[in-house]
Amino acid sequence: MAERGQALADPIAGSAVYPRGSRVNERGRIEVGGCDLVELAAEVGTPAYVYAEEDMRFRARAIQAAFAERTDDFEVVFASKAFPCTAALRLFAEEGLSCDVASGGELHLALNAGFEPERIYMHGNNKSAAELEQAVEAGVGHVIVDSLDEIDRLERIAAGRAQRVLLRVTPGIRPNTHQKIATGQEDSKFGIPLAQLPQAVERCAAAGLEVRGLHAHLGSQVFELDVYDTLAEVLGGAGDYPVINMGGGFAAAYTRGEDPPPPAAYAEAMLERLPQGIRVLCEPGRSLVANAGLSLYTVGTVKDAAGRRYVAVDGGMADNIRPMLYDAVYEAEVADRVGDSTACRLVGMHCESGDVLIEEARLEDPRVGDVVVVPATGAYGHSMASNYNAVPRPPVVFCRDGDARVVVRRETYEDLTARDV
Ligand code: LLP
Repeated sequence: MAERGQALADPIAGSAVYPRGSRVNERGRIEVGGCDLVELAAEVGTPAYVYAEEDMRFRARAIQAAFAERTDDFEVVFASKAFPCTAALRLFAEEGLSCDVASGGELHLALNAGFEPERIYMHGNNKSAAELEQAVEAGVGHVIVDSLDEIDRLERIAAGRAQRVLLRVTPGIRPNTHQKIATGQEDSKFGIPLAQLPQAVERCAAAGLEVRGLHAHLGSQVFELDVYDTLAEVLGGAGDYPVINMGGGFAAAYTRGEDPPPPAAYAEAMLERLPQGIRVLCEPGRSLVANAGLSLYTVGTVKDAAGRRYVAVDGGMADNIRPMLYDAVYEAEVADRVGDSTACRLVGMHCESGDVLIEEARLEDPRVGDVVVVPATGAYGHSMASNYNAVPRPPVVFCRDGDARVVVRRETYEDLTARDV
């Protein structure tokens, strides 16, 4: 336990995994955004997604500053799929970011949160006619055209309105990341193969669409930056366009050992080999929110079996599918007993053996009733949550200067039957 005057030894304050400003407080409890997580858990219940608002603002500013230092013509576009939450979208709109939406639902959220339609980029590898109509009607700045078939649909829908578009291409670059979230390789459902780009440009011209530039997204959780150099060469060499969108992929730290490159390194890699005088876009999702958020759970069962200690909490694969889907590795702490004395397996409450949050966790003497904190769940946690086992989805709580506000309430049992007809 950290005492007053031992701030330097505080493992939370020094951790890249937790939101900025987190620490172990005088009572030996983890504090985030000035809020004591044990008190917060008692107030809002568990499981809960908790975010430090200032951390998100800091990261939005850091990425913008990294680009501003290197170019005066850029846009940072928040990939809303990472955290499609109105309060977060409002926050990023306030911070001056643009917004990437990948469905009609995400478009609805972005408009509702106050993004100027002009600053919205409409994505999707298989946008429906209804979604394209919704985008064109709303006056979305750019549709990111993903296929030749989409050009046909958009031609009918835009009907001479000179809708601005970017063409998403498949650059044939495979970043070193989990195969489920690598998108830049040739063998992909995303984008227009480079060989078909001339045809796509021609089709757009004939369809009365204004091609402003190119887009590519290599993948997610990309640590090795040389792929962005290659991408810049590929896109820069694919024609003369005023706009290039280099996609997302900025990595986040999930465990102590991980050390993602800073925003400046991404900006440098993305910009270095692009032609001068163009507008450069990037589309970070994860890195803006992953480490701003964490999950709170309560321990209900501790048991020893087969030489292993199982610690079961009141959430799991329904609120965080990432360990099951991507073999994602997280770490955890007991909120008021920070330490790592006890090797254990942190498991959820769902009816599957695979419902494991952390295969090899280390907690400090975990006990029934403990509040357990799993950091770095701010991206793709809330957004990929399900109602498996008819479990109501957790609330989202924003913390700032010691104040906590619920920005998405917990689902209720009534919500679970609300769609029944
Ligand atoms: N732009 C496009 C076109 C994308 O498809 C994505 C993510 C992004 C930007 C943002 O990428 P980021 O900066 O967040 O890496 N559910 C997975 C991640 C899927 C990412 C899908 N596309 C996960 O939990 O790891």
